[in-house]
Amino acid sequence: MGYRTTAAALVLMAACGATAQTGPLRLNPDKFTRQTLEMPDGERVAFKAYEGIPYVTNIEDSAYQTLNIYVPEKLAGIRSVPILMRTYVGGYAASTAKAPSPADATGRALKEGFVVCVPGSRGSNSTITRGGTIVYTGIAPNGLLDLKAAVRYLRYNDDLIPGDSEMIFTDGTSAGGAMSALLGATGNAPEYEPYLRRMGAADARDDVFAAVCYCPITDLNHADMEYEWLYGCLNTGVRHLDEDQIRISDELSALCPAYINSLGLIKPDGSPLTADNYKDYLKGLLMESAHRALEEGCEIPDSIGFSFYKEKSGRPGAFSPGGAPGAGMPPRGDGRDAPSFGPGNAPRFNKSSDFVTGLDLDKYLGYVASVTPLKTPPAFDQMGVLVATPSPENKVFGNEAGEAANFTDFSLRHRLGDPSAELSPEMDRRVYLMNPMNFIGKADASVAPNWFIRHGAKDRDTSFLVPVNLAIKLENAGKRVNFALPWNRPHSGDYNLDDLFGWIKTTIM
Ligand code: DHB
Repeated sequence: MGYRTTAAALVLMAACGATAQTGPLRLNPDKFTRQTLEMPDGERVAFKAYEGIPYVTNIEDSAYQTLNIYVPEKLAGIRSVPILMRTYVGGYAASTAKAPSPADATGRALKEGFVVCVPGSRGSNSTITRGGTIVYTGIAPNGLLDLKAAVRYLRYNDDLIPGDSEMIFTDGTSAGGAMSALLGATGNAPEYEPYLRRMGAADARDDVFAAVCYCPITDLNHADMEYEWLYGCLNTGVRHLDEDQIRISDELSALCPAYINSLGLIKPDGSPLTADNYKDYLKGLLMESAHRALEEGCEIPDSIGFSFYKEKSGRPGAFSPGGAPGAGMPPRGDGRDAPSFGPGNAPRFNKSSDFVTGLDLDKYLGYVASVTPLKTPPAFDQMGVLVATPSPENKVFGNEAGEAANFTDFSLRHRLGDPSAELSPEMDRRVYLMNPMNFIGKADASVAPNWFIRHGAKDRDTSFLVPVNLAIKLENAGKRVNFALPWNRPHSGDYNLDDLFGWIKTTIM
């Protein structure tokens, strides 16, 4: 329901002498403070702040199970005002409900006249003391359950919040991008219902309208094999792996083709995406990213694997039309803030006629690995395979006593030295609940109709296969997906907000 309906409902209730429905999970519309935010351009955005609101009745961890809602004084002049729900989850750790920031999508959303919600959520490091014992409260899938409960709260209070809970955009980066993808994919899925009921989540739907996912660290139970299948070509080169590491890398890599083929993905041209043609498809995506960057005036060195058709090869300053970018011709799209770009740094390429003709993928991957050293195998389910120390993922799949755990049969078997070892059914269930890929196309999950997925072209935190598979699976399920591997981007999020908010507007207008 939008703002106008809310106002009309309140007028009607006042006329009848009725009071608004109250209850433990109802927003008190009178309890707010007035705040302002100074944006980078100097504009001051005024808003009402509703902060520290519990979104479940059975609160286990009051430090995290609250949300903040920010309502701009000047709402967007449209019938239905969207709600941006931004999670700051990183590293699968706990995250508090935060204030909006002028530096990210929260500030920009308020400036646009959109409502903002920042929920807290439990995570791998959140603890309480129960009966004198430390209890880890945020083991998977608890952080996700918190965020789903926050969505339910927004919908349950739709009549009191001047934003449309049928237009919730979730947004997060990395592990937060994974959470955003999970929120987008698992709407109303019955698997979560018993947990949410136990937590005392509001009795409302938890599907969302759109998921914005920056570099989602997801598909965790396949991410190790996807990493080695892609980056294994560098094992004896820039990666400098030892013999044991190469053995693990090879074993993992060998599992990947069957997984890719099991997804049954279809490329935009209608043909199957298989392990045999996958690398060519990925090359196409990276070439597209590079080509866009060239068009925007970025310089791409010859040394990183791309080949080009250059009308007048290497001619300095041959950019046309409009002179040097940055001087009257603002960059646009995802190449926007590539470091080699800017006034006084005229590109070598002729925008109108130069283009990318090929890519040596292994060479480009070597470049990615030279920017940020690769993870060692296994990249995610590390604990007890070649190192003792747990990864963020091992921690979030740990137990309430804070003991980390394996979440793939592969790593469990290596740790125990038992080739027949298997995850417990309970762990299988938890891993299943934390993977958005399981819910896309599932009849009883309401998958968001709109997706904005970004993974930087030099981001090595997970394999390119992870976001690509997610995007294609969604597209194949009939969802509207805006996907890109933005040029020169490392592991990061909420960049190029013009691009993001331009897209948001296309989905709501
Ligand atoms: C994050 C990054 C990682 O490389 C990872 O494995 C898990 C989480 C993060 O930045 O949230």
